[in-house]
Parts: sequence; C-alpha cells; structure tokens
Amino acid sequence: MWLDIPGFLSSTARRYGDIVRFKLGPQETYLVSRPADIKHIYQQEKNGVYEKSFFYQQMKPVFGDGIFNSNGEAWHRQRRLLRPFFTKSYIAKWHKVIASAAAVMLDDWQEKAQNNQPVDLAVEMRRLVESIMARILFATRIPEQDAEEAIDAIGTLSGQLMGRILRDFIFRGVLNDLPSPANRRFQKAVQTIDRTLARFTPQSSVRNAAIEPLISSLRQARDEETRWQMNAAEMRDQVVTIYFAGQDTTANGLAWTFHHISQNPNVAARIQAEVDKVFSGNLPTSDELSRLAYTGWVINESLRLSPPAYAVGRNTICGDLIRNYRVPSNSLVTSSQYVTHRHPAYWESPDKFDPERFSQERSRGRPRYAFFPFGGGQRTCLGMHLAMMEMTTITAMVMKVFTLQADPRHRVSHKASLTLRPRHEIKVLLHAR
Ligand code: HEM
Repeated sequence: MWLDIPGFLSSTARRYGDIVRFKLGPQETYLVSRPADIKHIYQQEKNGVYEKSFFYQQMKPVFGDGIFNSNGEAWHRQRRLLRPFFTKSYIAKWHKVIASAAAVMLDDWQEKAQNNQPVDLAVEMRRLVESIMARILFATRIPEQDAEEAIDAIGTLSGQLMGRILRDFIFRGVLNDLPSPANRRFQKAVQTIDRTLARFTPQSSVRNAAIEPLISSLRQARDEETRWQMNAAEMRDQVVTIYFAGQDTTANGLAWTFHHISQNPNVAARIQAEVDKVFSGNLPTSDELSRLAYTGWVINESLRLSPPAYAVGRNTICGDLIRNYRVPSNSLVTSSQYVTHRHPAYWESPDKFDPERFSQERSRGRPRYAFFPFGGGQRTCLGMHLAMMEMTTITAMVMKVFTLQADPRHRVSHKASLTLRPRHEIKVLLHAR
C-alpha cells in the first residue's frame, strides 16, 4: 500500500464494492466509488457537511493557507478573488505564451530527431510546463539552473507528501518533524521553491511585460464582497499554490498523454490527420484549437486511465448518509479518479485506450461523476481551462511535426506521489514528419 496507493484503492474497491470502510491507523476511512455517491458528497460539501480533510494539513508547509488548503469563509473569499483570472475567456490570452514556449521546445526536438537522440517525455513536459507557468505568473522565464532546482524540489515534495500524509494518519505523531534525512530534504525543497519565487514581485514582474503578469493582477485584485486584498504572505501562498498545482498535474498529464499516443499508432495517425486538416500555420489559433475534437477525446482518455490527480479526500464535519450507509462525523471520505475511471459498470473494456468512448454518441447516458479528473462541486480545479488549453495546444503542436516511437524494451509504470507520476523515464524517439 505504501508503494502503490491507486493499486491498493483499486483492489479494495474491486474486492469489497462501491462503499468500503477501512481503518487508516486510528482513522475511520471510507472509499466511495459510485458516480452518484461522489456527486452526493460534492453536493453535501456545499451544504457544509464536508470540508477538505486533515489530509491537506500536511501540505501546509508548502501551500500555507492558500486556496488549495483553506476551508470555510477564508476559502470562499479566496475563490471569489481568484476565479475571474481562470475563466475560459480570461485564460485565452495565455494561448500565445503556451504556443511560443512549445515552439521553442520543438526547435530543440528537431535537433534531437536528426541525431536520433531519444527524449524523456516526463522531463521534457516538466520543463515546458514550468516555463509556461513562470511566464504566466511573472512574464519572464526563471533562469535555467534555478528552474531545474524548482522542478526537482516539486518532485521531492510531490514524492514525499503522500507518505507524510499517511504517516500522520497512522502514527498521529511527530515522525514528520524528526530531523531525518527525508524530512530535511522536504524542508530544503520548500526553501528552494520559496527562494526561487520570492525574487519575483508584482512590481519587478510588470516591467516590460507584453501581457500583465498574473502576480501583478493578483496583487491589485479585491474580493468584491469584503473588499479584501491579499497581503504579501497571502500572495506567497497563492503564488506557490498556482506555480506548483499548475505544473505537477499538467506536466504529468501531458507525459501520460504522449505515452498513450506512442503506444497506439492508430490514435497518433488520427490526431495527425485532424491537425493537418485544422491548422493553417505552425502556431495554432484559439479558434483552430476548438475544432480539434478527436485530440480532445485523446486527452480525456489519457486523463481517464492516468489521472494526474488520482484521489480526493474530505472530512465529515457532521455525520452523513451516503445511500444507506451512515458515515459518522470526523471520518475521512475518499473517492478515487483512478478507481471510478475504471469502474466496469460505466466503462466498457475499462483498461483499453479507446478515445472514441468520449464521442457524443458513446458518452450519452454516462453519469457526470464517472469521469472527474478535475474534481467537482464548488472546489473543482481552478486551473481546469488553462490545463486543457495547455494540453490541447501542446499535443497538437507536437503531433503536427513529429511521430513518437516508444522504446519497446522500456516498461512504463506509475508512482503515486501527490500526483500520478511516471516511476521512471518515458523515453521515445522522435521522427520528423
Ligand atoms: C491536468 C491538469 C490538472 C488536473 C488533473 C487537476 C486536478 C485538480 C483536482 C482533482 C482538484 C480538486 C482537488 C480536491 O477537490 O481535493 C484541483 C484543484 C485545484 N487546482 Fe487543479 N488540476 C490541474 C491543473 C491545474 C492548473 C493548471 C492550475 C493552476 C494554474 C490548478 C490549480 C488548482 C487549484 C488552485 C485548486 C484548488 C481549488 C479549490 O480548492 O478551490 N490546477 N485540481
């Protein structure tokens, strides 16, 4: 279980059914896997029955009291303030930032393709998405060496957070505070991220910026209801949250998407046919992106089988009744994208990579929460539209110019960090089309 949390959740649900009660140390825990029950939990969260579990408290050294971690009125206030900066229409202005960062990567890939040099998709996508998030937040790139250190720090934090959360549940004690080598690495990684991001201020970022950097827009933003404006410490928490949450998920989502494409030559050919038909130049326009229906299904199918966020957890503040199961207060209620996205009652041949299952025809009748890669209810992923725009733009731009060839000797498996990460490299050879 320590090694493969999604695997543990899957086998538990397969063996014991759609609502399973078990103990995580002293913690009463429920795994809920039926879409209608997941919907019920999200609805009840709105009614104040659930809140983000103590689960998330272990993330406090990283995300502070930012939107990812907070609850109650503090969360409402933050969500109201941040929401306007992540709507579909607002994020459209970052489309060029994404496309030009991808174009730089593709130039570099041309040389690698000529030299028959494989690339590691996981590493490449982390670098690319980091450079996009830095440009969105600060209107500039972070110097290469510092960016690499920040990417490594995110890897360390993501890798350790799940273990820290479980240790806290099971041992309810000080294990996470001991001066062990792993805990020291954790602290050092937090410091690296803080040091790297602290040098960018709203004032320094706005100079010479073609598009106003997000950090400057956030500094000026006010909550309409309470007139609250963020101070420097609150800004730090949101900036780290956005930089981290925007990277760890999207970069892995892209790496998995390309991995699945490289394993399915028919899928690759269909994306290429679609992209050839829709794109007029090398940098896609927003309008062209909206016409890439098949590419969108492929991304969804990858998010289904390899969901970067593979589980969410909530606490019951008071008791709840899920169908006819009584769940007492202070329970941990968890739902897993990894489990429900493979539920045989909702997905035919669930382990098969089959993008067409997302066509309108085949989606008909499927319950809303059979597929929830971005969570749901009032705490649905804030960056969902940005993530989808990044994934569609980058997938289409890569497939327009390259065919990816997987190395058949190379076995790819996942590692459950905070997100679902590839355990090792995902190496592919690039063939220019
Ligand atoms: C493929 C990419 C992504 C996936 C799969 C993903 C998934 C999720 C999920 C499942 C949640 C809900 C967690 C919960 O309920 O416990 C969430 C929340 C969140 N995500 Fe994402 N995310 C992605 C990209 C992004 C991006 C690009 C950003 C920001 C730039 C972002 C920022 C956030 C924030 C701030 C929250 C907390 C929202 C709140 O609690 O109100 N995410 N994400």
